Amino acid sequence: MVGERPAGTRPAAPRPGVPRPDDHVVVLFGATGDLAKRKLLPGLFHLATSGLLPEHYRVVGSAPAAVALDDEEFRRHARDAVAVAEHGITKPEGPAWESFERSLSFAAADPSDTSPLFAKLAEAERAVGGTPRRLFHLAVPPPAFPSVVAMLGAAGLAEGARVIVEKPFGTDLASARALNATIHEVFDESQVFRIDHFLGKESVDNILAFRFANGLFEPIWNREHVAYVQIDVPETLGLEGRAGFYEGTGAFRDMVATHLLQVLGFVAMEPPVTLSAKSLRDETAKVFEAMAPVELHDVVRGQYDGYLDEPGVAPGSTTETFVALRVLVDNWRWHGVPFYLRTGKCMAASRQVVTIGFRQPTLRMFDLGTRQAWSDAGNELVIDFEDPGSISARFLAKEPGPAMRLGTAAMTFSYDSSFATANDLEGYERLILDAMLGDQSLFTRADGIERLWEVSAPLLESPPPIETYPKGSWGPTSVRRIPAPHRWHLPERS
Ligand code: BG6
Repeated sequence: MVGERPAGTRPAAPRPGVPRPDDHVVVLFGATGDLAKRKLLPGLFHLATSGLLPEHYRVVGSAPAAVALDDEEFRRHARDAVAVAEHGITKPEGPAWESFERSLSFAAADPSDTSPLFAKLAEAERAVGGTPRRLFHLAVPPPAFPSVVAMLGAAGLAEGARVIVEKPFGTDLASARALNATIHEVFDESQVFRIDHFLGKESVDNILAFRFANGLFEPIWNREHVAYVQIDVPETLGLEGRAGFYEGTGAFRDMVATHLLQVLGFVAMEPPVTLSAKSLRDETAKVFEAMAPVELHDVVRGQYDGYLDEPGVAPGSTTETFVALRVLVDNWRWHGVPFYLRTGKCMAASRQVVTIGFRQPTLRMFDLGTRQAWSDAGNELVIDFEDPGSISARFLAKEPGPAMRLGTAAMTFSYDSSFATANDLEGYERLILDAMLGDQSLFTRADGIERLWEVSAPLLESPPPIETYPKGSWGPTSVRRIPAPHRWHLPERS
C-alpha cells in the first residue's frame, strides 16, 4: 500500500498537547444524506482546519448507485455543505479548502456490487501511503446498518478497522440485540463506536468535571437534597425534509431513547473509578440497570398541528413529534427522585437544559409574601448544554432594604465569557476525533443501549394516544401533569 503522497496537500499544523490520530482513510456511508451534509462533512473540514485530523488522510464518500456522485460532484456537494453549515466557522475557500477537497473522493456501494468502493478505498490508501487505519462511518438509515456491516465483513475490510454506527441503534430491544449480534459477527466490541453526539457536547462532558472535580456539588447530588431532575430539549425545528426517517422513528426513539437518556446517565452516575472508557461506561450502564420500566401514565405523546400535511407523512400517522415522561432511577442515590424528560419538534424555543431542583429548607422562616410559592422559589441548578453552554445556580437572596424581603438571584458560569478558548468542537467533531484516536469513553456500549430499550418496552408496545399541540407551543397542555407537583423550568421562571 505504499504510494505517492497526495500532491500539494499541506496538513494543518498539529495542536500542541493534543494527540493527533494515525493516518486514516475514512469511508463515509450515507455521504449524500442529511447528516453528512449538516454535520459530518462540515465537521471533518473543521477538524482539518483545526489541525486535528491525521497528518495524512483521505475521505471516501459512498452511497447506493442510484444516488451516487462522481469525485467532482462530491467535492461540490461538500463545499456547498460547508458553506451553509450552522456551526461552520471556516468558509470553504483558500488553501485550507483546496487541501481538504483534494482528500475527497466518491464511490457507489451496493452489496451486490462492491467493486467501485474497493477500488476507491485502495486508491485512497495508496495516496495516504503506509498502512492507514480505516474508519467506516455508517451515516445511513437504521435499516441499512446490517447490510453495510455484512458487506464490510464479507469483503474482509473489518480487520483492524473501526466503525461508527449512528443512532438510533435499533428500534426496540429485539432489533438492538439483533444489530449488536450482526456487528459482533464482523467487529470486535473494541472496534465499535456507537455514536450519540450529545455525549460529545462540551457542556455535557462538563457535567463530569462539575460533579467530580469539585468538592462543592457532589455531596448534595442525591435524594437527600435533590427533589427532581429535568432534562428538557424543545426544538423549534420541524421535520426539515426528514419525513422518511422521522415517520418510522418519532420523538421518543429519535431523542429520548438516545440523547436524553444518555445525558441522564451522566447526571445520575456514581463517581467512576477513573475516567477510562470502561469505568465511565460501567457507571452509566449501572444507572440504566437501575431505571424502572417506563409507566404509561407517566408519558404524554404529542403531534404538532399540521404534521399530517407534511410531505412524506402517512395519512392518519400516529408518530409522535413530542414526548414528555417521568422516569425513576431506583438506586440508593436516587430512590424517589423523579426525572422529567421532554422534547419535541416545532415548539416555542430551541433549548437544551438540565435542571436539578433542590429540596426546600427544613424551616421556612422567611415570608415570601404573595409573590411566589416556596415550590417555585429558586433552589435550582440549571445546566444549559446547548453550545456554548452555561451553568446557573438560582437561589433566594435578601433584597436590599430595611425589610427581610427575598428575591430570586442567580450565579452564572458561561463558557463564552469564562475561557479564552471558545468551545470550538461541535459534538460530532469531538466524537469523530475520539473514534480516530480509539477512545470509546463517550460512545455507548451494547449492554447500556439494550437496557434502555428494555425499560422503554411498555411505551413502545402500547404507546398512549397522541394529543395535538399548536406549532410554537410548549406541547399539549396535559404535559403540565408530568412534573406535578413541580413545574417545568422552561420557559424560564421569572
Ligand atoms: C438528532 C436528531 O440526533 O439530534 C434530530 O435526529 C435533532 O431530530 C438533533 O434535531 C438535535 O441535535 P443538535 O445537534 O441540534 O444538538
